[in-house]
Parts: sequence; structure tokens; C-alpha cells
Amino acid sequence: MSEKDFLPINGTDYVEFYVGNAKQAAHYYQTAFGFQPLAYAGLETGLKDRTSYVLQQDKIRFVLTTSLVPDSDIAEHQKQHGDGIKVIALWVDDARKSFEETVKRGAKPYLEPVVEKDEFGEIVRSGIHTYGETVHIFIERKNYNGPFLPGFKKWEPSYRPKDTGLRYVDHMVGNVDWGQMNTWVDFYSDVMGFHNIISFDDKDISTEYTALMSKVMSSGNGYIKFPINEPAKGRMKSQIEEYIDFYHGSGCQHVALATDNIVTTINELKSRGVEFLHVPDSYYDTVTDRVGIIEEDLNILKNLRILIDRDDEGYLLQLFSKPVEDRPTVFFEIIQRKGAKSFGKGNFKALFESIELEQGLRGTL
Ligand code: FE2
Repeated sequence: MSEKDFLPINGTDYVEFYVGNAKQAAHYYQTAFGFQPLAYAGLETGLKDRTSYVLQQDKIRFVLTTSLVPDSDIAEHQKQHGDGIKVIALWVDDARKSFEETVKRGAKPYLEPVVEKDEFGEIVRSGIHTYGETVHIFIERKNYNGPFLPGFKKWEPSYRPKDTGLRYVDHMVGNVDWGQMNTWVDFYSDVMGFHNIISFDDKDISTEYTALMSKVMSSGNGYIKFPINEPAKGRMKSQIEEYIDFYHGSGCQHVALATDNIVTTINELKSRGVEFLHVPDSYYDTVTDRVGIIEEDLNILKNLRILIDRDDEGYLLQLFSKPVEDRPTVFFEIIQRKGAKSFGKGNFKALFESIELEQGLRGTL
């Protein structure tokens, strides 16, 4: 790096979803995705207005939060957006400096730096707004060794389905409204010191019907990657536009979760009821021409409908879930990287045709 990184980030600290029923959502992420119970806060820990369950799988932490009262930011968020991602929390060494450096460069403050303590030590938190009503919270935890954050107690239910091999957050994608992609690309570049590593336009990503544009922003050290999508004009409604319509604004579209063995992980997820997009048989007729030799048995990949793509550095295996709530909004990607550092551009056409089939069923194409 030529210039000093003014916002060094160690990784994704947690992803917080505001949901209608955190208790049931926690059961879903335990049962279907194999997340392990970690921490809890609610009436029993002295909170009066909300409940949060924290689940973990290797380096991935999800927080599921529900409002207990009708008039709160959480209730309002849930009413507007349905179940959705409110917080993309970033693990930093200095939360005060992260706040100062980003606000100085134009970030809108969300949370002034605050120190929180309990018997396990102290945490410093601060936060800024990003696209839509989504926020980034900076978490400094070097002086803390509790289960999650002060105010949370260990959550130790006896029900513990085993994990599914998910390891870390690979990337998180933001869908922004018409004409806003470059505004948010500039935000990540100017305010957070990220750089643009990949761009796609509607010529790269379009089918007969729908199109989108995307730019991938990466933190200085490459630990955090945020593709930003904007709808593009096609003959029919773009899947990004469908998201924006149902989310009522810009928001996080998908979280990509990495695994070291996608065959095992997808087998587990499917057997537990997670639903994935389905590409046709014909995808596998030509995939070898496009990606060359791979280590995995193509028949096994075909049976599980796992997608393959290659770039200059290697290949990747990936699969996309259907939306995980009733609104066609947030979904998950499961990804295994075998050298490739890209995002599966070669699969977009097949995928979008699959998504269009689903949109057709929803009457939203
Ligand atoms: Fe992705």
C-alpha cells in the first residue's frame, strides 16, 4: 500500500438482523444453517425494549434482534424493510479513531464512541451510516474477553444441531437505488479508504430481460469486500429493483459465507431445508469448456446444482439460496474459493435466468 490505511479493519465482527421474531429466527439459523448459540440479551438481562440472540459458526457471528415495544427504531425498521440487515459490524483496533477518521471524511455519525464495561473488561463502540438505513458499527474488543459484548450473557440451550462447515463472511453485497452506485462507491473509497477491485456493467450482467451494474469495494487489507449493485434498464424488472421495491429502499442483499468443503456444506444445508436457486441441466453441459479441469466430481456438483467459475488465479464454487424471508429480499451465498478472488461473473447469466423464473412465479418480473 502506498498510503497508510486510515481505517484498518481486522474482519467482520458481526451481522445484526432486525427481525419480527428473534426467538424463531434463532431456531432457523441453528437448525437450518448450523449456527451455535453464543449469547443472549433480553428481559432476563435487564433489557425492557428488545431481545437479541447471538449465534456463531467459526468466525461468523449473527445477532438476531426483535423489538418488544411498538415504537422503536427496531420496530420501525422491521415494519419498513421486513426482516433485514441493520448492522454490518467491523472489528477494529481503535473504534474512536475509526469514528473520527470516517466522520472527518464525510460519514454521517450513527453512534458517538461509547465505552461499555462488565466483569469481562471493556468494549469501545462507535458507528456511522451507510446505504439506506444500514449502519457500520466499529467494535474495539482488545480489552474484552466476555462471550460477546457487555450486557449479554452466555446463551446455553441444550438444543445444538451440529454446524454445517461455514467458516467466515466472504463478502456482503449492498443493493442501492437507481443512479446511486457511484455515490456509494465514492463513499467507500473517500470515507472508508476502500478501493474498487472489480466492475461489471449491464453488458457483463444481462439476460434477455434484466440487467444490473456492480462494483466491488475492498478494504485496504482485503479482509472486507462490499460489492455494490444498482439496477440497470432491461426489458423486464431487474432483480435489484425487485429487492428495492420490497425492501423499501437500499439495503444489504446477500451475505456470502465461505466453506472449505462446499459439497458437505450444501448437502447439510439442503437436508435441513435451506432452499437454493436451481440452474438447468444444460448449465453442466458446457461448464467444463468454460472452467477447465477442476478437482471435484462434476456429477456430484451437478446433483447439488453447485455453480463453478474461473478467473486468472483459480476457480470458485458457489450457490445462492432463495430469499430467507417472505419478502424477496435478503438471501445467502455459499462459496468455496480455490484460488479465485472474483465473484462468479461467469455464472451470472445462468443465475439470473433462474432468478427470473422465480420472479415470474412471484409476478414481479
Ligand atoms: Fe456474492
